[in-house]
Amino acid sequence: MQAALTNDKLARVNQLARAITEEVGRAFIGNPSITEALLTTLLARGHVLIEGYPGVAKTTLVKAFSATLGCHFRRIQFTPDLLPSDITGTYILDMRTNTFVLREGPVFTNVLLGDEINRAPAKTQSALLEAMQEQQVTIEGETRPLGEPFIVLATQNPIEQEGTYPLPEAQVDRFLIKLKMGYPVLADEKRMLSTYDRPPPPVRPVVGPQEILEMQALAQEVFVAEELLDYVLGLVAFTRSHARVYLGASPRAALALVHASKSLALLRGRDYVLPDDVRHLAPLVLGHRILMTPEAEIEGALGTVVIAESLDKVGYKMPKRA
Ligand SMILES: Nc1ncnc2c1ncn2[C@@H]1O[C@H](COP(=O)(O)OP(=O)(O)OP(=O)(O)O)[C@@H](O)[C@H]1O
Ligand SMILES: [Mg+2]
Repeated sequence: MQAALTNDKLARVNQLARAITEEVGRAFIGNPSITEALLTTLLARGHVLIEGYPGVAKTTLVKAFSATLGCHFRRIQFTPDLLPSDITGTYILDMRTNTFVLREGPVFTNVLLGDEINRAPAKTQSALLEAMQEQQVTIEGETRPLGEPFIVLATQNPIEQEGTYPLPEAQVDRFLIKLKMGYPVLADEKRMLSTYDRPPPPVRPVVGPQEILEMQALAQEVFVAEELLDYVLGLVAFTRSHARVYLGASPRAALALVHASKSLALLRGRDYVLPDDVRHLAPLVLGHRILMTPEAEIEGALGTVVIAESLDKVGYKMPKRA
C-alpha cells in the first residue's frame, strides 16, 4: 500500500497519538513518553517488551493501551506449566463429524498481552517469539497466517527474581523496543494514590484496525536523510568495536532503529526523521540487542550504558532537508 504523506494526514496521526496518550493517562499515571514508545512500536509493526518490578503498573499500562486501539485483544498469563499449544492452538476431535478441527490459540488476535512472559519455560516462550518473527504459526504441519495488525505487548519481571526463566538471548531481539519501567516520580505516585482510591474510568477506543494499518503504511513513507543512515551506522559500529561488548548491534538492529525512527517522526507530526528521533530511540531499540563480555556482565555493565556512550561519542551531520 503506497500512502502519500499530506499535511492533513500528518496532522491527523499526531492528533490520534495525543488522543491515545490522553486515554491511556486515565488509567496509567506516568511519563507520556512510555505511551509514545508503545505507539512507535505499533506503527513500526514491531513488538514491545516491558520490564519492571511487581506493582509498577505494567499490566495496567498495557491493558489501557490495548483498549485505545479498538482491536481484537487477547491476554496470555505465562505460568510454568503453560504449553506451546496453549499459545498457538491445537487440533481437537469433533465428536459430531468425527474429524479433527483446529481450536485457534490466543495468538490469533490483533493485540496480544503476554503477561509475565519469563514465568514460562523456554520452549513455550519460543512458540510466541516465532509467531512474532514470522507473522504465522505452524500447528501439526499446517501453517496459518496471523491477523493484521498484530502486536505483542509482553511484560516481565527482572530476571534475577525467583521462579523466572530468562528469555533466550538470541530471541530478545524479536522485540523492537525494550522498555524499563521504574518507580514513578513522587508527584505522579501521589496523584495515583489520590486518584485511584476508587476504580478508574474505563479507557475508550480511539482508533481501529483499519486506521492502524493506514498509519503503519504512512510511517513507511517518512523520509530519512542519508546523513542519518550514516549516523545509525556509526552508532552500531561503535557497539561492535567496544572493548566490553561481546556481540554488538546487528544489521537487523540497525534496520530496526531506522524503522522505529520513522514511526516516531510520524507520531511527532513530521514527514522526515531528525537526529533527535534516532537519539531518543537508540537506547530503547539497541540496548537489549547487545551482549556484554562475561567480565563486564559480572560487573553489571549494561548494553544501555554502551549506547549512552555511543550517543556521546559518535557525531552526526545535520541533514540538509531538516
Ligand atoms: N503509575 C500508576 N498509574 C496507575 N496505577 C498504578 C500506578 N502504579 C501502580 N498502580 C496501581 O497499582 C496496582 C498494580 O498495578 P499492576 O498490576 O499493573 O502492576 P504490575 O507491574 O503488572 O505488577 P506485577 O508485576 O505484579 O504483575 C494497580 O491497582 C494499579 O492501578
Ligand atoms: Mg502484571
